Amino acid sequence: MKLDYLSLGEKLDTDEYVICRYKVDSDLPIKTAGSRIAEEESTGTWTHPTTLSEEIFRSYGAKVVKAEDNIVDIGYPIIDFSGDIGGIPQILSIVAGNLFGLDSLKGVRLESLHLPNEIVKRYPGPQFGIDGLRNILDRPKKPLVGTIVKPKIGLPPKEFADYVYQAGSGGLTNSKDDETLVDQDFCPLADRVNAVSEKLDLLEEEGHKMIHAHNISTSTHRILEAADLALENGARQLMVDVITVGFSGLQALAEDPSINVPIHVHRTMHAAFTRDPNHGIAMSVIAGLCRIAGGDALHVGSYGAGKMNADISQELSSKKVLVNEMYVLKKVMPVSSGGLHPGVIGSLMEKSGDDVQIQAGGGVSGHPDGIKSGAMALSQAVEAAFKGIPVEKYAEQHEELQKALDKWL
Ligand code: 3PG
Ligand code: 3PG
Ligand code: MG
Repeated sequence: MKLDYLSLGEKLDTDEYVICRYKVDSDLPIKTAGSRIAEEESTGTWTHPTTLSEEIFRSYGAKVVKAEDNIVDIGYPIIDFSGDIGGIPQILSIVAGNLFGLDSLKGVRLESLHLPNEIVKRYPGPQFGIDGLRNILDRPKKPLVGTIVKPKIGLPPKEFADYVYQAGSGGLTNSKDDETLVDQDFCPLADRVNAVSEKLDLLEEEGHKMIHAHNISTSTHRILEAADLALENGARQLMVDVITVGFSGLQALAEDPSINVPIHVHRTMHAAFTRDPNHGIAMSVIAGLCRIAGGDALHVGSYGAGKMNADISQELSSKKVLVNEMYVLKKVMPVSSGGLHPGVIGSLMEKSGDDVQIQAGGGVSGHPDGIKSGAMALSQAVEAAFKGIPVEKYAEQHEELQKALDKWL
């Protein structure tokens, strides 16, 4: 029995199929390459199994509905994802599994992933999202403005908390641990959270609302314990490095009823598979999984304004996945960070819009007059862009901003 995975031109019911678009580089004809992926990721393998009946194939086999140029669209029947144990790991094992290693493909990239609501409704989704963060910070329209305490590692809790206090005094709404800081001996998590919490209380008494995201990235079996420790010490926000922790760690936090603070999601290591345009997984796919798993804010890049390698079309499509209608899920705050400073905020906001969390580590801590002035300069640059005033003009009336432009523009 010849099983044909090709179903070219078929219009799939988007409620009944997980639909993926792959970009494929292969010496095989594109239809054959598409069939190989569909076969490997659903009911087949490299040779025809005698145990594969027509009935099994019809019920669970994937369908190649498009195979043109270097693009392949495949629909996987929703039943292939049934049951409530598999979770996101099982989704990825199908849509982003063995196919990457198939010798018959020179390169393959998962460009987009459509999940039916039947699947999405199994997941927590964001508890706060854009609106929730804005409510906490009393910041209904403007971009959130944040910093990352620098140096990345090394500051003891008191100095760390002083940095946060200076940043808040300079007008920032957010700060965060860097992605490599968790519970090192020089700055244990509990001590850091405690010290920062006292400063956030002080800022609030002084009339300024600010939250700080504490990095609790750890093994899945310890992440709830880490969250408890942070919350016991007054954490206003948690942070996870979702690629190194795993989507399941993020989901465990979002599903825990005792966790009632927003979750900031850093994506460090993503570039290992998002950066190569011909092989890997598009950041927009990661963004969609972070949204269903419960992230409230996610790094999507800085549209070419920062230090990180930028594929602007990919960053814009990631932002779209975070803020577009996705069933009943809340919208996730896109975060732009990495190499930013007051001189590039205008061009950044032309692409990001106002629903963005802008962060600068070096772009605040490197200010010649220190943290508070660095924070003021970044806040002033965001204010200027929000009001549509050229940053150089705004700097004429704001010396902290002028000094930042003198140093970095
Ligand atoms: C950093 O950690 O230096 C950057 O923020 C990482 O870049 P990203 O925000 O684009 O992931
Ligand atoms: C981040 O984790 O967002 C960054 O470390 C940004 O740091 P930078 O602004 O100094 O690049
Ligand atoms: Mg960092």
